[in-house]
Amino acid sequence: MSAQLLVRAEPVRAVTRAPVPIVLLGVGTVGQALLLRLQRLRPAVRLVAAANSRRCVGRGRGLDPSTVVAALGGDACAANRLAQVARWLPAGGIVVDATASDAVARWHARWLQAGLGIATANKSGSGAGLARHRRIAAHASRYGDSATVGAGLPLLRSVRELRAGGDRIHAVAGVLSGTLAWLLDRYDGTRPFSQLVAQAQRLGYTEPDPRADLSGLDVRRKLLILARNAGVALAESDVEVAPLAALDAPFDTAAIDALVHDAWRSARAHGQCLRFVARWRADGGARVGLEAIDADDPLARGSGCDNRVAVWSCRYRSQPLVIQGPGAGAEVTAAALLDDVLRMGRG
Ligand SMILES: NC(=O)c1ccc[n+]([C@@H]2O[C@H](COP(=O)([O-])OP(=O)(O)OC[C@H]3O[C@@H](n4cnc5c(N)ncnc54)[C@H](OP(=O)(O)O)[C@@H]3O)[C@@H](O)[C@H]2O)c1
Repeated sequence: MSAQLLVRAEPVRAVTRAPVPIVLLGVGTVGQALLLRLQRLRPAVRLVAAANSRRCVGRGRGLDPSTVVAALGGDACAANRLAQVARWLPAGGIVVDATASDAVARWHARWLQAGLGIATANKSGSGAGLARHRRIAAHASRYGDSATVGAGLPLLRSVRELRAGGDRIHAVAGVLSGTLAWLLDRYDGTRPFSQLVAQAQRLGYTEPDPRADLSGLDVRRKLLILARNAGVALAESDVEVAPLAALDAPFDTAAIDALVHDAWRSARAHGQCLRFVARWRADGGARVGLEAIDADDPLARGSGCDNRVAVWSCRYRSQPLVIQGPGAGAEVTAAALLDDVLRMGRG
């Protein structure tokens, strides 16, 4: 008689989780891409409130994401709405910061202390002063920052995993601005650089104020976030920045056109290409600025808005680990924010 193996099928239990409650701050390019995604994710995520810089709208049982933009045309809300965020959200709720606002970023540490999670595309949280970064880093497991550098590319995650695995990072170099990558990729000396900047702004590729890209300050924030995740307590003043344009002065198109054209002509004469590069080396400081680089340099590859980052460590000593991919755009940024929301919701 043959032995019979009886396998009793366990009834499949549907895993039902309560939807993750979120508040969305910022309904511009990224915020609106996120609202579109939320319509598909409604059972998993409950949008309890949304705000721009002037207005807010909220409903404890959940807002219909498709009505939020129109609803924000309504009454102005209290000036202290950022202070109210912690009251809108129940414990375990998540604030999604899709603004570029320093005023909002100043609240990150307080929201974390109040037990909330944060998913942010705003780099002014952990990419600002070291003291603010340290207050945030004390709650790292509830701080979703994938959208801040590389718009969701597995950059920060890889750097953190290398460290967690005992590796030591010696240097990082990167093309961290999708906007500047696009501008320098397109530039061929036939038309003024400032015209390309205007085109990038129309296409929604630039920061709300393009001088934030051209000043190098946005790239500096990304380098600070990357280096701090690599275990280096880098301060803003440790990074030397060579801007293409000043943030606090009117946009001087003639100056930027001449600067980029001269650099481009000299690079071309040496068979090189122009890239806006952020570098940090354990033995050589940190710098952000325009560089002429050889065609076989890892940072020379890629096209369009691609970000590229090379990481040298004990493990990757002579050949760096290189991560490359689309590093800008509302779609990928919104997807990265929601990945962080869902990860924290699960955790
Ligand atoms: N666009 C991209 O491809 C991209 C890629 C990666 C990362 N990011 C980052 O994502 C963030 C948003 O970028 P974006 O392109 O979506 O900017 P945006 O289109 O200018 O939208 C910014 C939004 O933030 C709101 N806002 C400003 N201050 C606020 C405050 N104090 N409270 C609440 N809301 C406030 C604005 O409201 P008002 O309209 O009332 O001013 C607007 O709705 C930035 O940090 C940017 O660096 C963007």
